[in-house]
Amino acid sequence: MIRDFSKDEYDEFKSLFSISDTWQIIKNIFLEIDRKVLEHGERVAYIVLSLAKRQKLDTKTTRSLVFAALFHDIGMIWSDEEETEFKSFNPKDTYGHALSSYLFLKYFSPLKKYSEIVLFHHGRVDREQVNPFYKLGVKLHICDRIDVAEMNGISRERTIELLNKNAGKIFYKQDVEDMIYLLEKTSVLDDLKTNKCRDTIDKYLSAMYFRRDVVRNYLFMATYCFEFFDTETMFHSRMTSSLCYLLGRYMNLNLHQLSVLYTAGLFCDIGKARIDHSILKKPGKLTDEERKIMKRHDEYTKEILEGCIKDPQVIDIAYSHHERLDGSGYPRGLKGSEIDINKRIIAVADIASALMAHRSYKDAYPMEKTIEELQDMVDSGKLDEKVVKAFIDNQQEISAYLENHINRVLRTLQAMRGEKARLKFANSWSL
Ligand SMILES: [Fe+2]
Ligand SMILES: [Fe+2]
Ligand SMILES: [Fe+2]
Repeated sequence: MIRDFSKDEYDEFKSLFSISDTWQIIKNIFLEIDRKVLEHGERVAYIVLSLAKRQKLDTKTTRSLVFAALFHDIGMIWSDEEETEFKSFNPKDTYGHALSSYLFLKYFSPLKKYSEIVLFHHGRVDREQVNPFYKLGVKLHICDRIDVAEMNGISRERTIELLNKNAGKIFYKQDVEDMIYLLEKTSVLDDLKTNKCRDTIDKYLSAMYFRRDVVRNYLFMATYCFEFFDTETMFHSRMTSSLCYLLGRYMNLNLHQLSVLYTAGLFCDIGKARIDHSILKKPGKLTDEERKIMKRHDEYTKEILEGCIKDPQVIDIAYSHHERLDGSGYPRGLKGSEIDINKRIIAVADIASALMAHRSYKDAYPMEKTIEELQDMVDSGKLDEKVVKAFIDNQQEISAYLENHINRVLRTLQAMRGEKARLKFANSWSL
């Protein structure tokens, strides 16, 4: 039996992050990938909250709609739809991004139960389906259109005209009535231009409660965001954090240190989101100039994490994952005692993870070859001897643990891609 986090470890991990911290992490990653989609999601969630209040929707329904609103267009990042479609009041093709958003939430997030609302967020009353989420999708649709109208500079009067014209056709009559009330009698439209939307959503989320295991799933969701631009980095992050966790345990770190190290492992390469894709995904070896650019990812990681993680240790460890004991590493060229046990562990975890993974320029190394390479780096004074010894002594458990965890990620990815292909094939769905 391969052990996952224990109850105590989950508790310690949870004490490191509140829901709003976790949301800040996800948000910061999305800001790197696609700022406009994230900000649009926040504004639509704000409109949803206003409508839910007006209609006195129950807490559960409101929460479903808010989460669906936050991520409803996330699939835009994946799909080939034109940006003009994103902004268009009457988009022609909405299937691709609605499907991608749905798949992302269903497979890569703890928000699976809201994924169908997202799938139907361009749904219309005159095509109503029996699916209970369809109705909520249509409700989300009207909120979405208000922000799209705002983005297009459509006047309040014209927006109201468009709503009235489509009452009972695209939108529910009651929703149109309530939305017009909000537009005429409240500050909702003006609020879209200010920070009020963001602040209100942050406050709304920080009042929520999370189960202990769900926090980690939200962080996994954040690493799945890498899937938008680089599957390799996504796998690498998951493997590095698993290795940090195992090596930390073998080195008898306390629970708090273990959670700090695990998180640093998950996000140490997040700065790669800012590296040009032509370099990040280049098949074959990088030129000196490209390598120089690639090495900037540690600085970017630090910058991104400083905007969302409160624990300075997590940031410091993530920032230092390329430091080497002999001072040959980067970005600071730290040496010997300047590199504490956490940084020594993440260095080994990062290298082992890279060696054991398939890369565009090399095959995955088997365990023996990985150990040989690690040992060479100990002999040349680059890596910590004790940490590598812990790796070697526990190689069987490490292999089994990684196989179990990485296979799980692989299966999720395959299931998602399978459903994507099936749904694209069965494109007869009316959305
Ligand atoms: Fe959309
Ligand atoms: Fe949208
Ligand atoms: Fe790195």
